[in-house]
Amino acid sequence: MKDLEFIASQLRKPSGDFAATIAEKMNEGNQPLYDLTFNRLDLNKGDTILEIGFGNGFHFPELLSLEDSLTVYGIDYSEDMVRQAAGRNKKLIKKGQLFLAEGGSDRLPYADHTFDIVFCNMVIYFWDNPEVHLKEIRRVMKSTGKFYTGMRSKETMLQLPFTKFGFKLYSVEEWSSLLKDNGFTIKNTYQKTDPGFEESGKVIRLESICIAAEL
Ligand SMILES: C[S@@+](CC[C@H](N)C(=O)[O-])C[C@H]1O[C@@H](n2cnc3c(N)ncnc32)[C@H](O)[C@@H]1O
Repeated sequence: MKDLEFIASQLRKPSGDFAATIAEKMNEGNQPLYDLTFNRLDLNKGDTILEIGFGNGFHFPELLSLEDSLTVYGIDYSEDMVRQAAGRNKKLIKKGQLFLAEGGSDRLPYADHTFDIVFCNMVIYFWDNPEVHLKEIRRVMKSTGKFYTGMRSKETMLQLPFTKFGFKLYSVEEWSSLLKDNGFTIKNTYQKTDPGFEESGKVIRLESICIAAEL
């Protein structure tokens, strides 16, 4: 059993020998949140989409299968995650449907007004100054664009002991009000209770949340 602080640091930025293992665990554990987000994306033909913090890029094929005229960009600040995502998505990259970059969401390497949709799942907890990231997201969104935040509710995340180490958790109200304070309008909030899993003899059920916002 790995130490809780180590697990938290790997979830923040997977790196080194444990990166592949933690990324696979995230693929499985966060599938219900990706299902919720992908079901709710307001996609149009030809949309340009950005995912921030894509982990090992497991979900890109599913995203591109929703509509094959999409162009998808991904940015993640973990070198290991970018390498793994590039490895498993070679075909999509070769076809010019997927573009990956290593970098942080506090300084996005994209021109103003590029994206129809920006989304991130399980990433906002690690933003020390969310205002900086939200300003960058606003800058790269088209004026008609949408930003989807995927997260788990604060109340249910508190059941996971590693969240004590460096996670900034939010309730729906707290994150929605931060979005509003930073120039976003909330369009919809979607919530779904995940299937439960067992942890140290206890059943844990997380609440997946997807908040859709516009400028
Ligand atoms: C908890 S994992 C979530 C991965 C995936 N989105 C999922 O839900 O399974 C967080 C991911 O976001 C990346 N990340 C965290 N903060 C970031 C930032 N400020 N800019 C870019 N990537 C970031 C990490 O490297 C990691 O791959």
